[in-house]
Amino acid sequence: MKILYAASEAVPFCKTGGLADVAGSLPAALAAQGADVAVVLPLYQKVKEKFSDQLHFECYDYVDLAWRHSYCGLFSMERDGVTWYFLDNEQYFRRPELYGYMDDGERFGFFSRAVVRMLPHLRFWPEVIHCNDWQTALVPIYLKDDSVREERFRSIRTVLSIHNIEYQGRYGRQTLGDLFGLDHGWADDGTILMDGDVNLLKGAILCADAVNAVSPTYANELKMPYFAHRLDGIMRRCGYKLSGVLNGIDVKRYDPAADPHIAVNYSAADMAGKQADKAELQKLMGLRQEPYVPIVGIVSRLVSHKGLDLVCEVLHDMMELPLQMVILGKGDRKYEEFFQWAAQQYSGRMAVRLDYNEELSMAIYAGADLFLMPSKSEPCGLSQMIAMRYGTVPIVRETGGLKDTVSPYESWRDAGNGFTFANYAGSDMLYVIREAVYLYKDYPDAFARLRARAMACDFSWARSAGEYLHIYSTVTGQPWPPAEEPVRTEESAPAEESAPAEETAPAEETAPAEAAEPASDEPAPQPTAEAAQSSAEPAAEEAAPAAPEKKPAARKRTAAKKPAAKKTAAKSGRRTPAKKETKPKKGTAGKQEPAE
Ligand code: GLC
Repeated sequence: MKILYAASEAVPFCKTGGLADVAGSLPAALAAQGADVAVVLPLYQKVKEKFSDQLHFECYDYVDLAWRHSYCGLFSMERDGVTWYFLDNEQYFRRPELYGYMDDGERFGFFSRAVVRMLPHLRFWPEVIHCNDWQTALVPIYLKDDSVREERFRSIRTVLSIHNIEYQGRYGRQTLGDLFGLDHGWADDGTILMDGDVNLLKGAILCADAVNAVSPTYANELKMPYFAHRLDGIMRRCGYKLSGVLNGIDVKRYDPAADPHIAVNYSAADMAGKQADKAELQKLMGLRQEPYVPIVGIVSRLVSHKGLDLVCEVLHDMMELPLQMVILGKGDRKYEEFFQWAAQQYSGRMAVRLDYNEELSMAIYAGADLFLMPSKSEPCGLSQMIAMRYGTVPIVRETGGLKDTVSPYESWRDAGNGFTFANYAGSDMLYVIREAVYLYKDYPDAFARLRARAMACDFSWARSAGEYLHIYSTVTGQPWPPAEEPVRTEESAPAEESAPAEETAPAEETAPAEAAEPASDEPAPQPTAEAAQSSAEPAAEEAAPAAPEKKPAARKRTAAKKPAAKKTAAKSGRRTPAKKETKPKKGTAGKQEPAE
């Protein structure tokens, strides 16, 4: 299975949030399970500076975005069994930050366009392109648009992961043609239009073959107005292709037994080091050296959906409990000012750092006893998983991935791996914080068992990678794991001769089953019937052209070089027809979903 993973950030190259952690770990986990994986990222200035010695220049080409005709360089690097590609354009990406520029729409419009147009230069022709959030939301749209004219794009299936639906890539209607180079039909049928604006995420949700939220609970929440930022109707409509796959964490990187960033290493079997890390954290943050007072840690962007209003509301009640507090993060001024003021009021018991600091965050994960995440909404959340791995017991609100990863402590049967509350209410949060603090102080053995359960949770990527492979298998109609090689007997030899059919046959066979599957989820027969119909004939027709299809893979090395050299004058439409990539298509031509 050939997967191209397109993202706007990935660890260790560039990071502003959780997406980077996911994009940094999932591809390698997919590769470890046998998939052929490449990742494509913009070549930001930061990446160029830090990794220039490891980057290999592949080629360059020109990419058309509406009337713009721009240079696009292609660099690559091999890492953990994955090919990492970087698309270079200094006008767009040679800037100190990743986002926050007034032309972000154009920058990521270019990036998405380039992902599609640079495909012939990659080492494989992908079967699936997996996109993430609004920055790459145009990829499934461009693929559909190009498929109308160029057959080779019809074989590619798309998966869209939503990490946070709040950010949708909304732009004025006039950007459709002039900026993104799309025909007005995309707006007329409503596919890409929402509340009068161009809405890239909405377009991608409708166009992608599968949509995925980063936790099962978030997938459900996205169908509700409270969480969906006006896209709940679209999400409900696309329920038949929606799934929720919980993120994992990089368990090698986040390992208290080996982490070089923390003062003293420890493991579930020997927790002495954690006590030392606690003393270290207290020293570092100017807190009193009190070994038997639990430290409640917060590592978070200081923004409203992280539930910080609740903390502000009951902070004084919290500080009446025998606890210490550590807060690390930056964000909205009102929270920054409030927490700084509070830290002065409770000096020695509460410490605040308005910063984004990897080193300090690890000191908190290791040194704190409890980890507070009262989010209003949380698509997945990685911090609670990291905290658990370091034996820091989470206190979370039951939303999104927090609900899926933290099960509430039940004293009567000694179960659970943290503390949870359901209502978005300061009093409910305070109630469980009190429960946690007194369990720590009065029942240290029970607390130690709870902590051990948290540490024993498996948040590795292997499980999630398996679920993604299942999604890829559903959209491509290819079985995963791949069907066993048939046992070679004398009689089977001639069968091998007719190999060209071999690729198309399973795809065709599984196509109806795949189409039928979503229908069981929700009575949404329209796409199923249509897809089945339109796929039936072309698929049969194209069984023959499918045979030469393997060639491009073998050819691409050389192909990659030549166009690069003489591409300057060539416009995008001038591809040689010999380059046809044909896979049995399954009714993907054109945009099919009507407007909301
Ligand atoms: C976003 C979400 C966060 C999630 C991360 C990775 O940052 O807000 O909850 O864990 O993406 O998917």
